[in-house]
Amino acid sequence: MSTSYTASAGYIGGTAAPFIEEMSEITHHMWSLGWDELNGGNISYLLDEAEVAKYIDIREAQRVINLTFPVTELAGKYFIVTGSGKYFRNVIKDPEANLGVLRVSASGESVEVLWGLRNGAVPTSELASHFMSHIERLKVDSTHRIVLHTHATNVIAMTFTHDLNELQFTKTLWEMCTECLVVFPDGVGVIPWMVPGSSDIGRATADKMKDYRVVVWPQHGIFVTGATMDATFGLVETIEKAAIVYNLIGGREIKQKITDRQLADLAQAFRVTPKAGILEV
Ligand code: 13P
Ligand code: ZN
Repeated sequence: MSTSYTASAGYIGGTAAPFIEEMSEITHHMWSLGWDELNGGNISYLLDEAEVAKYIDIREAQRVINLTFPVTELAGKYFIVTGSGKYFRNVIKDPEANLGVLRVSASGESVEVLWGLRNGAVPTSELASHFMSHIERLKVDSTHRIVLHTHATNVIAMTFTHDLNELQFTKTLWEMCTECLVVFPDGVGVIPWMVPGSSDIGRATADKMKDYRVVVWPQHGIFVTGATMDATFGLVETIEKAAIVYNLIGGREIKQKITDRQLADLAQAFRVTPKAGILEV
């Protein structure tokens, strides 16, 4: 069967590719929640070649962008990513200008732009953190697909007042809402404050991704990974909700809380294994 490509690639019979729809919908939600002001936040989504080829001509690259960090492990892989400096608010209005479909070159030293990033736009400045995180998550989870970075307001606020020890940070989040331990028994990693957009922060983030699906960037935001958009977005929502509760409590006296024993009982009931070294039971 031959595939015919229309002038408006990315669409078949007026219907957008599902992965373009998903990116448009999720960026809109994230902007509505106030997490992604201005050009804040970025997403990368690993796609199957066959799925991309249904909607986009993969035979010829529109242009090639060199990477400053080789990613040989991702050679030949396809991603849809948000563009650098692009506003999440605008994605839904004009996906082709704000998103791009990329293929990592055979050498892993560049990416080929196959669709989108109109008018010379480039992929997110956090591509190093995204690609390096994909590499680490794929090593431990073959179903992994998505890396999502967002400026979740309450998580940022919490990094001002809470200790940045990741075990303590995780325990506090678990204590804020009963569902937290069930949703992220593996906890959250935390890196020190670093200059964003660099290979260094990419390596530090990816290093944490060996053990965590979530990495907090103090005074900046959060990196969250997952197999589907629903799971990844749901994970940020849950963590942000816990951070909201933490900030609402503020410095006020706590009269009762979920005890370590109760958290352990919860884990047993929902058949999850809490990250070791946190609960004292
Ligand atoms: P980009 O616009 O390059 O994706 O950067 C936004 C951001 O959140 C940087 O951390
Ligand atoms: Zn950011």
